[in-house]
Amino acid sequence: MPSFSSRLIAWQRQQGRHHLPWQNTRDAYRIWLSEIMLQQTQVTTVIGYYERFLQSFPTVQALAAAPLARVLEHWSGLGYYRRAHHLHAAAQRVANDHDGVFPDAPGSLMTLPGVGRSTAAAIAVFAFGRRAAILDGNVRRLLARHHGIEGFPGLPAVEKTLWALAERLLPRQHLETYTQGLMDIGAQVCTRSNPRCASCPLRADCVAYRQDRVHELPTRRSGKAPLRRDFCLLILLRRDGRVLLEARANQGIWSGLWSFPECENNDDLADLIRARWGLTLIAKTARPAVVHKLTHRTLHITPVVATVQGRLRAAATARFLSLPEARQCALPTPVRRLLGQDRFFSAT
Ligand code: ADE
Repeated sequence: MPSFSSRLIAWQRQQGRHHLPWQNTRDAYRIWLSEIMLQQTQVTTVIGYYERFLQSFPTVQALAAAPLARVLEHWSGLGYYRRAHHLHAAAQRVANDHDGVFPDAPGSLMTLPGVGRSTAAAIAVFAFGRRAAILDGNVRRLLARHHGIEGFPGLPAVEKTLWALAERLLPRQHLETYTQGLMDIGAQVCTRSNPRCASCPLRADCVAYRQDRVHELPTRRSGKAPLRRDFCLLILLRRDGRVLLEARANQGIWSGLWSFPECENNDDLADLIRARWGLTLIAKTARPAVVHKLTHRTLHITPVVATVQGRLRAAATARFLSLPEARQCALPTPVRRLLGQDRFFSAT
């Protein structure tokens, strides 16, 4: 059987992503920016932010010279704002201490604020063709499954094993394709829930697959079982096909993101919809619950699709949006998934 890396490289060439906006360039500034944005945020959300950001700050010098407030404005909605503060500080470091040129060694890149070992490796590979191993959350999961590595990956001993493995698996050449392949498989095939093992090029020697333990690995954090929370997300549709989204408060889960409004399973919907938004409920259907796992909580979400009419009472935080508009918002994953289900939206 061909090696782990050759299978991954061959798969990436045929099935991987080749047209992301930060690919096909060696511009370290653009690559660094993408890696920081992608640290906690999905590709689909990042793309729009990335392009607007580059239009406003086309070079590291432009970013370094910009007021922090302007940088934060551009970050608004991406979440994890510490990243934006670090980004600005790192741009100033590169502009002032390195003459505007990014260092090319992973060890030097790691001295920049916000750049950890894995991010430094990704930049070194993509911008400078260096040989370095990445180990982000997706790659941890993939390696833990493939090699059957037990133990919560956040534990130092387990992390050390995973780093050693990531280094050992590195090919001699084609580092960019290999690294992108790891990211692509991690994001699209070896996903946390519902992995697509049938189309995985690494399945033949995947320990978790062979032992039917894909859902047990990587090992979850020990301690308390995740708390279960049950609630509904209201998909309020107008007859013109627009759907109501609400900006979440700046605290609790999904803070600052746009979401379908949340309610309890036993709320009286007609009352609630009238009281909160001044709208009239015409029809509703509850759909089967979807399960969304967070680190310490498991959400059991019942989507309730409801047709409504009337004028939205002035509510600064709620808006009716067309589906394409809604899909562009900064959304929690389960909301994004629900918005992707066309059957919810075709009946109106
Ligand atoms: N996640 C982190 N870095 C990425 C990249 N370069 N492409 C796609 N997803 C990523």
